[in-house]
Amino acid sequence: MPTPRLVLRRPDDWHVHLRDGAMLAAVLPFTARQFGRAIIMPNLKPPAATAADAAAYRDRILAALPAGVEFTPLMTAYLTDATDPDDLAAGAAAGIFTAAKLYPANATTNSAHGVTDLNRIARVLERMAEIGLPLLIHGEVTDGNVDIFDREAVFIDRTLAPLLERHPTLRVVLEHATTQEAVDFVRAHADSGRVGATITAHHLLINRSHIFQGGIRPHLYCLPIAKREKHRRALVEAAISGEGPFFLGTDTAPHPVTAKESACGCAGCFTAATALELYAEAFEEAGALDKLEAFASLNGPRFYGLPVSEEQVVLERSGTVVLDLVTLPDGDAVLPFRSGEKLSWRFMGAV
Ligand code: DOR
Ligand code: ZN
Repeated sequence: MPTPRLVLRRPDDWHVHLRDGAMLAAVLPFTARQFGRAIIMPNLKPPAATAADAAAYRDRILAALPAGVEFTPLMTAYLTDATDPDDLAAGAAAGIFTAAKLYPANATTNSAHGVTDLNRIARVLERMAEIGLPLLIHGEVTDGNVDIFDREAVFIDRTLAPLLERHPTLRVVLEHATTQEAVDFVRAHADSGRVGATITAHHLLINRSHIFQGGIRPHLYCLPIAKREKHRRALVEAAISGEGPFFLGTDTAPHPVTAKESACGCAGCFTAATALELYAEAFEEAGALDKLEAFASLNGPRFYGLPVSEEQVVLERSGTVVLDLVTLPDGDAVLPFRSGEKLSWRFMGAV
């Protein structure tokens, strides 16, 4: 008999793009419905770089929450070459910042103000290590001569490994890990307790061939780009391992359909509408539904030193049909990952 119901502590999403304005209002209810807390990415236009920016953004998120929904946005600082270590430390001390995000300049969406050279933020990183503020990393080199499918593995060798040596107590999360190399690297540092990795639902479900199945599929284009099947398998194996450094981070990244279906389409998969159902799909296919709670609800809080949720949520096997579209007030829309398809599980809310 297949399991008819799945009960787990309320999960958290350790990597979310909520955007701002009308997009924020349209997408926030999906994340807030399933997750208790989420790490909010700061790559707005302009970026949320200072403690004041982040506090104002947090207020806009809280104001956009549907009535009666409890959800805690955990804010991050967008690091630039000009980040002031005192502002960062004051923001952390005031409970505004949970972490800071490193976008190598021009690595991805809205990263033009990112860090051009890690040496420029050496003092910031020293301060973060001192106060225990985690560094969340978009781990791809921006060197155009490096093949797009190799950018994460090369980043690990060229940038991440030396960074950890230079800052021996800095805590880091390799965000949206996509490769066997990432999994191996995180495991090699497991004993130190200072290296974690988030894994998205879409990287557990697709490999690079899916992006070109029967034609080019812009809604499956994200960064880091999905890799070969052997890498997808390595990610599944890490996610279902129950090992502490691996935890849930959807990287749900909404863009209007017009911006995705374009001659130069934006990177990002919008998975928030059925995030847990998608993870359940991947875990079930691997025969490891019993490991979903550790990945989704336990490992992340432990890494961040936060309490695990005391609330429980339920998924049922009745299945869900993914929304076709989420409409925006300007007439545009966001197309959810697996739009219109049937998934095996259905998120039912709190027990
Ligand atoms: O696919 C992605 N979309 N990857 C990122 O790193 C950024 C994100 C976005 O903000 O759209
Ligand atoms: Zn992201």
